[in-house]
Amino acid sequence: MTMEQAIITWIHLVSAAIWVGGSLFIGAVMSPLLKTMSTSLEERLQFMIKVGRRFNKIAIPSLIVLIGTGIYNSIAFLNKPDLLLSSSYGNFLIVKIILVVALILAYAVHVRIIRKDVEEKIISKQLSDNQIQKLRKKIIILGEVTIVLSVAILFMAALLDAGA
Ligand code: HEM
Repeated sequence: MTMEQAIITWIHLVSAAIWVGGSLFIGAVMSPLLKTMSTSLEERLQFMIKVGRRFNKIAIPSLIVLIGTGIYNSIAFLNKPDLLLSSSYGNFLIVKIILVVALILAYAVHVRIIRKDVEEKIISKQLSDNQIQKLRKKIIILGEVTIVLSVAILFMAALLDAGA
């Protein structure tokens, strides 16, 4: 165990806390609370978009740092393709990486749904109630997928840590 390893793990852990903790807070605290408010659906959606954009400022860098430090953590393993396939540690690492790729895709779609022009259409009330509902449903489902994948990735991290 070297200081360098500890620092890399620490950065990986802090970034994981920001990414997973932040998205769970939005999903489990902000979003249910907002539903109890008597403002219009459009206003609530606009507010959540603002929250999301603000969160992205720390969430996306955290995700990038997670991937960078994660690759650094696994470089010794990634250089040995035979071990990657033949050991359970290697297999869990592969599953973890696949889940991370799925997470990036789900998050990219989640963010893309709420492009600037879509936000402008909501603000200028160019969308029908039906369109807003559909948009909201898509955003919610992808947000949920993001959270489920993040928590599943933590389980893979636990399996790796247990040396399973
Ligand atoms: C959303 C993305 C990620 C999250 C939330 C996450 C979370 C975690 C957590 C909580 C740990 C436990 C720290 C420890 O006990 O060492 C960990 C360890 C680790 N992570 Fe990640 N990670 C992510 C992405 C990645 C990626 C992309 C890779 C590889 C390319 C990776 C490779 C590793 C490795 C090798 C360990 C050390 C496991 C061990 O103890 O042997 N992680 N990760």
